[in-house]
Amino acid sequence: MSDYLTTAIDIAREAGGLISELSKQPQEVSYKRRSDLVTEADRRSEALIVKRLRSSFPQHDIVGEEGGGRSTNADYCWYVDPLDGTTNFAHGFPVFCVTLGLAHRGDVVAGVVYDPTRDELFTAERGAGAFLNDRRLSVSKAANLSESLLATGFPPYAENHELNIQLYFRFTLLSHGIRRAGSAALDFCSVASGRFEGFWELKLNPWDKAAGSLLVTEAGGRVTNLSGGPFRLLEDEVFASNGSVHDEMTRVFTEVMAHKGSV
Ligand code: IPD
Ligand code: CA
Ligand code: CA
Repeated sequence: MSDYLTTAIDIAREAGGLISELSKQPQEVSYKRRSDLVTEADRRSEALIVKRLRSSFPQHDIVGEEGGGRSTNADYCWYVDPLDGTTNFAHGFPVFCVTLGLAHRGDVVAGVVYDPTRDELFTAERGAGAFLNDRRLSVSKAANLSESLLATGFPPYAENHELNIQLYFRFTLLSHGIRRAGSAALDFCSVASGRFEGFWELKLNPWDKAAGSLLVTEAGGRVTNLSGGPFRLLEDEVFASNGSVHDEMTRVFTEVMAHKGSV
């Protein structure tokens, strides 16, 4: 395991411990935009992570959701979501995590997602597999959409909701159902660990998908855009699956989007 990953694991566990402690207190919520919540836990977790990353890797760039990073066009860049699942956290719904992904010239090379509510640590390094705690992960073997459990999410503002509701509607009828649990990073982890067969979102930030996308590919799954084209960390949409149901789901995306216009 590289120093990058071992350090990221220590930091994610420490930040996870912090948000877990803070989850026991009443939450004071402020709003970045309507329905876009932020809590003291988001800010304190990011401050901790950025401080630790800066001291361990002073040459690396850091992009944090709460604005705590710095960008110098360095080869290595950390994408940090200090609390993925803020709306859940603010309401006391225990589905949230900390996630850190390291990209080298735009390609994700290492990632960690730590779920403090279940003490589940998901880790991956490019070419070295994906793990849940000490167990190596593989995606599910389900071959058809009709035997699949899926996930999606909605960004915390209304853009694209109508299109995603159409997709939600279609896939609900074609599968075992759809979960909208409220943490994109954990949704990727559920694909990597075989709990879900597929997960898509129309508008995600790089910190939501850096670690999770690597976890899925390292667990043997596939990550693309909704049309089945190359996944790009800095583009909005993403579709992750176990690979076997990918083409079938891509056909449904294409069909629904043809009637609604493009994303
Ligand atoms: C959100 C969650 C949610 C997803 C949203 C994200 P946040 O991140 O990952 O599941 O549907 O698109 O913005 O705001 O809780 O860090
Ligand atoms: Ca997020
Ligand atoms: Ca967040």
